[in-house]
Amino acid sequence: MLSKSYAVNGKGHLTIGGVDTVELAENYGTPLYVFDENDIRNSCREFKAAFDKYYGGNARVYYASKAFSCKEMYRLTDSEGLCADVVSGGELYTALSAGFPSENIGFHGNNKTPDELAYALDSRVGRIVVDNIYELHTLDALAEEKGVCQKILLRIKPGIDCHTHDYIKTGQIDSKFGFALENGEALEAAKLATAMENVELVGIHCHIGSQIFETQPFVDAADIMVSLAKTIEKNCGKTLTEINFGGGYGIKYLESDSPVPKGDSIRLLCEAVKEASEKYGFPLPTLAIEPGRSIVGDATLTLYKIGVVKTIKDVRTYVSVDGGMSDNPRYALYGAEYEAIVANKADKPRDFTATIAGKCCESGDLIQEHTKIQTPEVGDTLAVLSTGAYNYSMASNYNRIPRPAAVMVKDGSSRLIIERETYEDLIRKDI
Ligand code: LLP
Repeated sequence: MLSKSYAVNGKGHLTIGGVDTVELAENYGTPLYVFDENDIRNSCREFKAAFDKYYGGNARVYYASKAFSCKEMYRLTDSEGLCADVVSGGELYTALSAGFPSENIGFHGNNKTPDELAYALDSRVGRIVVDNIYELHTLDALAEEKGVCQKILLRIKPGIDCHTHDYIKTGQIDSKFGFALENGEALEAAKLATAMENVELVGIHCHIGSQIFETQPFVDAADIMVSLAKTIEKNCGKTLTEINFGGGYGIKYLESDSPVPKGDSIRLLCEAVKEASEKYGFPLPTLAIEPGRSIVGDATLTLYKIGVVKTIKDVRTYVSVDGGMSDNPRYALYGAEYEAIVANKADKPRDFTATIAGKCCESGDLIQEHTKIQTPEVGDTLAVLSTGAYNYSMASNYNRIPRPAAVMVKDGSSRLIIERETYEDLIRKDI
């Protein structure tokens, strides 16, 4: 099994966190997102413990809440001592509504609106990661108006090309995010920021991409970022105290995937930063990372009811479920891979080749093609695994399909954390 949260009980049903998934589907309806609280907490603790061990704890772990944003996730990550990375006024609002301490929030985005910047300043967020010169000027002016001095980091494109899907690569020069190194933009921005009165440049940030299995890109980023911090010190007379390396740590979607254990990733990052600090003669900075997927992606699943099973002779069998790209657009967008299990037949062999289709009016509405599941029948419950990250947060109301509910399971019990949308919700804003 992909995660130790999953098991099969005496009835032959798939369980997660000790809860029978077939019962979850009956009790809460489908489609249903299911998260294992213990696993999320363990992920938070693994990152923190690794920084304690390899960096004396001089580090902050920001949960990249774009992976799965809802009030309960902010409460949970706050209770684990994590900070939060938010990327829009809406995520900031959700975090604050959940009581997340604003000083532990980092605000991101490549095109923050003046309203969002004003909201972030009024909320006293701890850090704003500035993406571009226009934003820098806007922020400085707004901060002056409000009589505050905002701590900022600059978003840097370190020029690293990692092996992941093109749409989720962000470290190379041809990216809409941040300041490039190669053409001197980054240093120019640092000169400008250090001369401003209403922002305080405290650090630099990079995020090279998402779902990364290699370690070298992070090691390379450490050298490049510490070197840039030294260059900024020399040219601007300002010693930065923070370097944020973003997220991107890959998780296991398929049995054949072998992501780097969290502790090893952090050890390598810390070692690389220490080495670079020595090499460039730069004081050890506070480190920060922003994992999203690796906090919330494992030990989760989506439950569906199987409807029509359509076998096209000599072509393929479409197994249609009561959700689809409206709750999980990742196959349509990235050709993302998933494992699926017929939850009420979890003790049977997965010897049936299926294309799992959704119910949206679109041929590309597929969850997975040519994947192995148990022999499916109408009324079976299908579990698609590892769907915790970028599923609910990227869900839509396409075809006016209400967004599913989400539940958290823990040690054999379950609780609702997001209600299922209703038809009334769908027309609430219609005039
Ligand atoms: N920090 C920044 C600045 C980011 O842009 C991201 C993700 C993260 C942290 C968190 O990365 P993670 O640890 O989750 O890899 N929708 C895509 C993923 C987009 C990632 C966007 N940025 C997907 O479904 O694969």
